[in-house]
Amino acid sequence: MPRSFSEYVYSDDKIKDLLLLASKVAKTSATVLIRGESGVGKEVLARAIYKESDRYKMPFIKVNCASIPENLLESELFGYEEGAFTGARRGGKLGKFELAQGGTIFLDEIGDMSYTMQAKILRVLQEKELERVGGTKTISLDVRVIAATNKDLEQMIENESFRRDLYYRLNVFPLNIPPLRERKDDIIPLSRVILEKLNKHCGNIVSLSADVIKILQQHNWPGNIRELQNVLEHANIIRTDDEIKIRDLPKYILPSNDKLDVKNLEDFNLKENIGMLEKEMIKESLLRNGNNKSKAIRELGISRRAFYEKISKYQLE
Ligand SMILES: Nc1ncnc2c1ncn2[C@@H]1O[C@H](COP(=O)(O)OP(=O)(O)OP(=O)(O)O)[C@@H](O)[C@H]1O
Ligand SMILES: [Mg+2]
Repeated sequence: MPRSFSEYVYSDDKIKDLLLLASKVAKTSATVLIRGESGVGKEVLARAIYKESDRYKMPFIKVNCASIPENLLESELFGYEEGAFTGARRGGKLGKFELAQGGTIFLDEIGDMSYTMQAKILRVLQEKELERVGGTKTISLDVRVIAATNKDLEQMIENESFRRDLYYRLNVFPLNIPPLRERKDDIIPLSRVILEKLNKHCGNIVSLSADVIKILQQHNWPGNIRELQNVLEHANIIRTDDEIKIRDLPKYILPSNDKLDVKNLEDFNLKENIGMLEKEMIKESLLRNGNNKSKAIRELGISRRAFYEKISKYQLE
């Protein structure tokens, strides 16, 4: 694998194949469309392709099409001439495309661009030239385009919210990054790198307990690698030694019906575990009985007095 891809941590073969494709297309000036769910590593891949290209000494300009307000996007992308509009800067301003001249422009969140802006982008991609806002000169461009999105562009074409012609123009070389739940072999190597970075300052080697690994493997990871980073950051703050335990993980990621999996209990103190079960059951009973205490008491089969004692013990009020 080329060195530019060394920051792309993986072990799954799907990613290996994808990176091989990416390293081939990197050497060309072809337009690349990176697809994948949120947090899956689209930007990391875009930067790796850029680094691996012959344009690596020229600029890499990122545009987040979702975060720039519609009325500013045109001048952000194409620049403007002095006096183009009220409030326009003296001497005008270069747009992102011109700043990327000779290099690469990364059009992130391309699926969030308005229909009118899509038409303007399409023109630039087709003609390889642009006019600044308020300008008359035509400026020719030598810019490599990498676009990325987590949107279902095909569906958007059906709904007429994404232009079919722009889609074909962008979809020259699609690269689909699979979600983390479809490449669970990557969880451990990614975790190792993330924990290394988090603990660089103290030099500790932080590992994961076998139970934690099991939970990380079972989780669905809707937020992909960004979510994994958040979970590990949380655990890294809470941890009391160099091995991350289940108790260090954010609660939401614990499989709720697994709380009684005795084989996998880390802490075998009976009293504490029974307490946890009591608390969870009382909470659940109150929840399913719409906070009606009498119904909860009946369902749990305990005395009213025992119920109130436990409520105060576990601070469930
Ligand atoms: N293969 C990988 N190796 C190491 N770190 C990764 C990898 N993939 C993603 N990351 C890390 O995960 C985080 C999210 O990655 P990135 O920003 O590239 O995702 P994205 O697909 O662009 O997300 P979004 O759709 O939310 O913009 C980043 O901090 C990035 O460094
Ligand atoms: Mg991104």
